[in-house]
Amino acid sequence: QVDDRELEKRLLLQTQSDGEVDSASFASQHEVDPKRIVGIIKSLAASNVVVFSETDKNTLNLTEEAMSFIENGSPEARAFDFVKSKGKNGVSLPEFKKLEKTISEVGFKQAMQQKWLAMDKATNSVVAKVEEITDTCRTYLRMIKEGKKEEVPAKELDALIKKRKLAKVETWKEYAVKRGPEFALERKKLEHDLTKEMLANGAWKTATFKEYTLVPGAGNIPASGHVHPLLKVRRAFREIFLQLGFSEMPTNNFVESGFWNFDTLIQPQQHPARDAHDTFFMKTPAKANFAPEEYVEKVKKMHEVGGHGSVGHNYAWKREEADKNILRTHTTAVSARMLHKLAEDGFKPCKLFSIDRVFRNEAVDRTHLAEFHQVEGVVCDKGLTLGDLIGVIRQFFAQLGMTQVRFKPAFNPYTEPSMEIFAFHPMLGKWVEVGNSGMFRPEMLLPMGLPEDVSVIAWGLSLERPTMIMFGIDNIRDLFGSKMQLQSVKNNQLCPLGLEK
Ligand code: PHE
Repeated sequence: QVDDRELEKRLLLQTQSDGEVDSASFASQHEVDPKRIVGIIKSLAASNVVVFSETDKNTLNLTEEAMSFIENGSPEARAFDFVKSKGKNGVSLPEFKKLEKTISEVGFKQAMQQKWLAMDKATNSVVAKVEEITDTCRTYLRMIKEGKKEEVPAKELDALIKKRKLAKVETWKEYAVKRGPEFALERKKLEHDLTKEMLANGAWKTATFKEYTLVPGAGNIPASGHVHPLLKVRRAFREIFLQLGFSEMPTNNFVESGFWNFDTLIQPQQHPARDAHDTFFMKTPAKANFAPEEYVEKVKKMHEVGGHGSVGHNYAWKREEADKNILRTHTTAVSARMLHKLAEDGFKPCKLFSIDRVFRNEAVDRTHLAEFHQVEGVVCDKGLTLGDLIGVIRQFFAQLGMTQVRFKPAFNPYTEPSMEIFAFHPMLGKWVEVGNSGMFRPEMLLPMGLPEDVSVIAWGLSLERPTMIMFGIDNIRDLFGSKMQLQSVKNNQLCPLGLEK
């Protein structure tokens, strides 16, 4: 068995000497499968060593059965001869049936059709109807065998192929090979890449490069990370705040003391929100170790007896409650820290925002988790009014595409007045509650040391709710946590708010 390299060499030699080589005769001459030759020709043609032309070829091959008919006569002729040899009265059917099947069935059927034989019903025997016959089937098969199929009447040829299945058409392609523009007896190795070595040793000057394939191939989709829907929406919110001139508050502490989360907001210590039913308390460390003592005293006084015209909550304030470590229940704890620092550093008007995680000890259901993200905005300046709050909120939600906003009076322990925010949601086609807002109470701001004429307006909303609406998610567990649908992270559009134009 010769290998492909050897075959290739022989083919090139013959092409050089003969000028043109026919694939089929080359294959039979070298006793190899023509398919191998075709492979070699195509590969040589790809590097322009040869060129070729194709011709469709076909041949009619006789079956083994057909060959035996040529040798022994067709079954119908043999059936006729047998009956004829039995004389005038023919053969009884049972005796005829004893003949070999090809004769008694195929031959009988064909001879009946040709009207060579007939049934004599009275004697139940097969009789001859003609004196002599010509075995045309055998004649035609012989003609096919001798390569004279063109001489066989078309109808008969068709019947032999399709009905009697005695011959089969086989088609194939034949290749006529000639010298190509790059013809050589030895094929040059084509280079795939221009390498550093080729540049260094000068091999690039004589190298022949493989041609570029310019048909587009299916590229690999690279494995990559995908941004979580909440982070996409957070980025969009952050963009809005930054455009409106807000700076981001540092929210990188999930653990907070009761003091900053509740006491600074003058939320009484017996308030149900400070209960273990609503708040996660830390076991280790259970106690916070830092609070600005001077300020703590002022907060304690505000809780117990009030001041600045307020009567306070009138109870015995306990330091232990304030020192308890908890998971922060809102980012307003961070706003309180920032406002206190602002008073300490010397008041300056400011606009602050934060977007981060908060924790509540709540039963988990379709719309609630024990942790979620809050978006919070705070504006601090002299002479701010409720009108400013309404104006800022309108501007903020307009950036989100919600131009119709309504307010409803509400209660918050640390704001007065307080308002719930409703917006007409264009995607949902209805009014939905989108947030909570208010003006921080003087009871909260004055103990911090902020000037009397400074007001602080603030509002907050969750990040999850708008995200769920924007991505059409109706179960919060599909958005966040271990049951999160990873595919949706990959499929969701990058900027849900349409801000990145
Ligand atoms: N802290 C409030 C909440 O958790 C939201 C809020 C922020 C309300 C600022 C008024 C002002 O729901």
